[in-house]
Amino acid sequence: MVSLTRLIVFVSIFTSITLKSNSQYFLPITKHEPTKQFYTTLTIGTLESSPLNLLLDLGTTLTLLDCDKVLLYQLVPCHSSTCMSLPSYCDFEGIILCLYRHSKQTAIVVQDKVFISTTDDDRNFLSQVSFDNFTFSCANDKTIQDFPPPLSGILSLSPLSSSFTKQVTSAFSVPPIFSLCLPSSGSFGSFHIGSVNTRRPISMTSTPMTFTDSRDYLILVQSIYVEGTPLPLDSRFVLGGAKLSTVVPYTELHTDIYDAFAQSFTLQAMAMGISMVPSVAPFKHCFDARTVNNMTEPNVPMIEIGLPNVNATSEVNKWAFYDANTLVKVNETVKCLAFIDGGNKPKDLMVIGTHQLQDYMIEFDFNSSALSFSESLLLYDSSCSTWPSQK
Ligand SMILES: *[C@@H]1O[C@H](CO)[C@@H](O)[C@H](O)[C@H]1NC(C)=O
Ligand SMILES: *[C@@H]1O[C@H](CO)[C@@H](O)[C@H](O)[C@H]1NC(C)=O
Ligand SMILES: *[C@@H]1O[C@H](CO)[C@@H](O)[C@H](O)[C@H]1NC(C)=O
Ligand SMILES: *[C@@H]1O[C@H](CO)[C@@H](O)[C@H](O)[C@H]1NC(C)=O
Ligand SMILES: *[C@@H]1O[C@H](CO)[C@@H](O)[C@H](O)[C@H]1NC(C)=O
Repeated sequence: MVSLTRLIVFVSIFTSITLKSNSQYFLPITKHEPTKQFYTTLTIGTLESSPLNLLLDLGTTLTLLDCDKVLLYQLVPCHSSTCMSLPSYCDFEGIILCLYRHSKQTAIVVQDKVFISTTDDDRNFLSQVSFDNFTFSCANDKTIQDFPPPLSGILSLSPLSSSFTKQVTSAFSVPPIFSLCLPSSGSFGSFHIGSVNTRRPISMTSTPMTFTDSRDYLILVQSIYVEGTPLPLDSRFVLGGAKLSTVVPYTELHTDIYDAFAQSFTLQAMAMGISMVPSVAPFKHCFDARTVNNMTEPNVPMIEIGLPNVNATSEVNKWAFYDANTLVKVNETVKCLAFIDGGNKPKDLMVIGTHQLQDYMIEFDFNSSALSFSESLLLYDSSCSTWPSQK
């Protein structure tokens, strides 16, 4: 058994060093339309080897699986260095276990083998690699129905070393970088780990990436523009960190920011010939879809967020969003502003959600503490489902 384990470790190390330098660890991303959630599919464990669909979450510290049988995986011993390296604790549940407390439930810390594909930059499959000691947690409380089908758990993409992404980059000794390209529909989005994708869109812009309590990814939004005009925001709302989320579907704004933003957007939209219609919850500002894009040129106001650049010069980088990311179709006749009023006392002033992030390539680089984003791939007649070339 020991020699078999050594052999597997040896084989996976061997596979990883024979990779071409431009190869990447690759996982697919699927959008689940009914819930607007994004998940990836990967295989964990040697005993039960069916692939699992796991929600991608930038804000979860330790991967959590809905385990029917926790004993399919190797328990992490209490007082082991792995257990002690996590914000976990030991408790007696028949036997002494290493436990991890998620926000809503307690889970048992386990380890097992995880399998990942490697591809070249054109997404051509190169090989399947694995590492043995992937640490995650198992919730086996049948009363908890947190994961509606097809999901079996949450994959941690947090900035902490316990995240799936950090464990992969450390297991294969590759740079601590990952990128996400969330598809607006279907199942061909991409999640690359460990190397800069050299087939990135030509234009990528970088901004400093910071962390709150090392848990959430923040970028420093300095201003918001509608058709090039900055919003007149109270200074206490500027220079605030905006949190990035892969689970919040629509960007949420503090009420005062939302109001200034929606007012500016609707005035510009009406000036462009777009008519307003009664709101459809959860959205507050909706438009007659027949008056949107009724000409050859798009007539939806462009939204930009102003971000500092990585060289800390005074130049502002702008991240631009166009119609597909600013409006959401409710039905054939109604489209709404795809932003949510987050109330007067939100935990974060601004949470950037997936409707805004989809069809952009987004790269998280821990080596340079930078977040890089592409232009909308739709501008290249492409999308996260087809970039760089595959249909
Ligand atoms: C995983 O196993 C490898 C090789 O056995 C070891 O070098 C590494 O420290 C382990 N990682 C963790 C997080 O336990
Ligand atoms: C396009 O918008 C203009 C201005 O609102 C309107 O008069 C016209 O009827 C619209 N055309 C179509 C095809 O809906
Ligand atoms: C930052 O500086 C480097 C080196 O001087 C330069 O290559 C890069 O283009 C600059 N980046 C931005 C966003 O200005
Ligand atoms: C679209 O939704 C609006 C608001 O719910 C409703 O009034 C309208 O009848 C719907 N239109 C169609 C074509 O379903
Ligand atoms: C990490 O960052 C340093 C300095 O910012 C740079 O010289 C180095 O090339 C980077 N390494 C990788 C793998 O990107």
